[in-house]
Amino acid sequence: MKRIFSGIQPSGNLHLGNYLGAIKNWVELQNKYDPIFCVVDLHAITVPQKPKELHQKTIEVAKTYLAAGIDPEKSTIFVQSRVPEHTELAWILNTITKLPELERMTQFKDKSQQNNQNINAGLFSYPVLMAADILLYDTNVVPVGEDQVQHIEITRTLARRFNQMFGETFTVPEPHVVKEGMRIMGLDDPTKKMSKSAESASNYISLSDDPDTVREKIKKAVTDSEKEVRYSDDKPAIKNLINIYSLLDNIKPKEIEDIYRDKRYSEFKTDLAETIVGFLEPFQEKYNSIEDNEVLKILEQGRIKAKELAEKKMADVREKMGLL
Ligand code: AMP
Ligand code: TRP
Repeated sequence: MKRIFSGIQPSGNLHLGNYLGAIKNWVELQNKYDPIFCVVDLHAITVPQKPKELHQKTIEVAKTYLAAGIDPEKSTIFVQSRVPEHTELAWILNTITKLPELERMTQFKDKSQQNNQNINAGLFSYPVLMAADILLYDTNVVPVGEDQVQHIEITRTLARRFNQMFGETFTVPEPHVVKEGMRIMGLDDPTKKMSKSAESASNYISLSDDPDTVREKIKKAVTDSEKEVRYSDDKPAIKNLINIYSLLDNIKPKEIEDIYRDKRYSEFKTDLAETIVGFLEPFQEKYNSIEDNEVLKILEQGRIKAKELAEKKMADVREKMGLL
C-alpha cells in the first residue's frame, strides 16, 4: 500500500482552513493508503513558543486529529521531536541544499517579514526538516494545503539529488491537494488565507468556537460589492464562503448557486453558519470526550512504529554516505 505522510504544527488555534485544507482529506485518504500523521513541534519552535503552551498544544493537535476521525488503528500518529531521526536526517539534507533554493521559499519570506526580530537559521532551513519528515518514511503522497506545495517541490529535489549522489535511497513524493480546499481565505479579508496567526479572531473560525461565536463571525464576514450568491473569481468573499459550505456539506458550488439564486445573501449566510455549527458540535463533543492520557498512549504507540521505520532508513542513509 502506498504511504502518505502529513503534519501540522502545534502553534495557535486550529481553524476551519486546517480542517478543510488538510485534516478532512487525511480522514478520507487513511482507507486507501498507509498513513502517518505527525505533530510537528520542531517546526513550531522556529518562531518563539511558550514551553507550557507548546506542550498543551501538542496534545491538542493530536486530539484534533482523533476527533476529526483519524483512526489510530489505521494511522500512525506521533510527535516529531520524539523520533530524533528527523533532526539527524534534516542535518544531512542541509548539506546538500543550496542557499538560493531556500531563499526562494514564499513562507520563509513571509515569516521573516512578520518576525523580523528573529530570523533564525531554523526558520530558514524549515523546508529541509520537512523534507526529512517526508523522506524518512518512503512517503509516496503528501496531502497538504496549497501553501505547502513549494516545500514538497524542494523535498522532491533533495530526494533526487541524494539518490543521484549516493544511490537509490529515497522515494520521490507527490503532493496531494484537494482543489476547493486548497485555500480557505480569511473571513475579514478574502485575499489572504485563513490563518491561526491572524491579528483578529474574526479572520477565522476556530475549531473550538461556540455556536454564537460562529454565527457572529459569519454575519460579520466581509461581502463583495454586489450581494449576490454567485461563484466567481471576481467575487472572492462569497466564493470563499461557498467553498466552505460546499466542503462541509459535500454539495457542489454550482448547486449552492442554484439553491440561493433568488434568495437573499443574508439567508445564505445564516444557513452557512448553521452548517458550520452542525459540523463543530459533534466534533467538539468527541474532542472533549478524549482524555489527555488516552492521547499520550496513542502517541507512544505511534512513536514506536515511526521510530522503527526511521531507524531503518537512517541506517541505510549512514551506510550510503560512509558515516560509521
Ligand atoms: P499550518 O496552520 O500552516 O500549520 O498548516 C497546517 C495544514 O493546514 C497545512 O497542510 C496547510 O496547508 C493547511 N492550511 C493552513 N491554513 C489553510 C487555509 N487557510 N486553507 C487551506 N489549508 C490550510
Ligand atoms: N510545514 C507544514 C505546515 O506548516 C507542516 C509540516 C511539517 C508538514 N512537516 C511536514 C506537512 C511533512 C506535510 C509533511 O503546514
